Amino acid sequence: MAKVVSFGIQKGGSSKTTTSGIVAYILSQEYNKRVLAVDLDSQGNLTELLTQQDIYNFHEKTVFEALKEKDARNYIHNVTERLDMLTAEDHLARFPSWLYETYRGNRSLVLKETLDTIRDNYDYIIIDTPPALGDQTINALAASDAVVAMFEASKFCYSAISRFLETAIHVQELVNQDMKVAGILRSLIDVRRTDNKALIELIEEEYGELCFETIMTRTAAVGRLSINGFEGNPELHQGLKQYREFVKELIQRV
Ligand SMILES: Nc1ncnc2c1ncn2[C@@H]1O[C@H](COP(=O)(O)OP(=O)(O)O)[C@@H](O)[C@H]1O
Ligand SMILES: [Mg+2]
Repeated sequence: MAKVVSFGIQKGGSSKTTTSGIVAYILSQEYNKRVLAVDLDSQGNLTELLTQQDIYNFHEKTVFEALKEKDARNYIHNVTERLDMLTAEDHLARFPSWLYETYRGNRSLVLKETLDTIRDNYDYIIIDTPPALGDQTINALAASDAVVAMFEASKFCYSAISRFLETAIHVQELVNQDMKVAGILRSLIDVRRTDNKALIELIEEEYGELCFETIMTRTAAVGRLSINGFEGNPELHQGLKQYREFVKELIQRV
């Protein structure tokens, strides 16, 4: 049965999508794992990153339809050998209104119950979440075995992280005792900036071993990934070096 790992933080632009996409790619390509990537953000960035297609090509064939039917089987899109995905587009923004107006059941567990229909087909399910502590993120946490809290070295993200971890503990207590915080991943670091260094150290002082040892720097190759995609991208190999180190740590922790 698949291990389910979410990437989250309510601050936007913290590399949630990039990291979850690269992790899904590395697990499927380099570890030969069967992976399902789930896009839970109505922006559809993970969908675009992994499929390199216009997100509207997936209209009415997305994760939202799967959630409404509580059955993912008809909505799986194959990306590459061993990598599948549940896609997203703008309509997913209506998930909360659907949840409160139409849905009858435990509102935090819709995603978990949807993924239960295909969980046996995968080794890992990787979930990308939107920049908010709303219903999608709560559902992701409730469906996960582990969550990675993304920390991008800014004051805004520093302010977000404690509340994110509190929310994770809340979900753990209320609906998912099996979920654990895998760790805090420091990303988008500019090594030349002393304020970035100070924030990295501050997080380490406060959260100690909860921090992953690997620290992700900002690189041009990874920044261009949304443009160039994974296939036939010669500069990518070098760009993924840190991500490979992170995936090693992640596998050990989950
Ligand atoms: N390691 C990295 N190096 C350079 N740019 C990155 C890196 N990770 C993410 N980015 C860029 O930073 C921006 C925000 O990343 P994204 O993954 O979309 O964050 P989020 O999903 O948290 O909003 C994007 O433009 C992305 O291409
Ligand atoms: Mg994103």
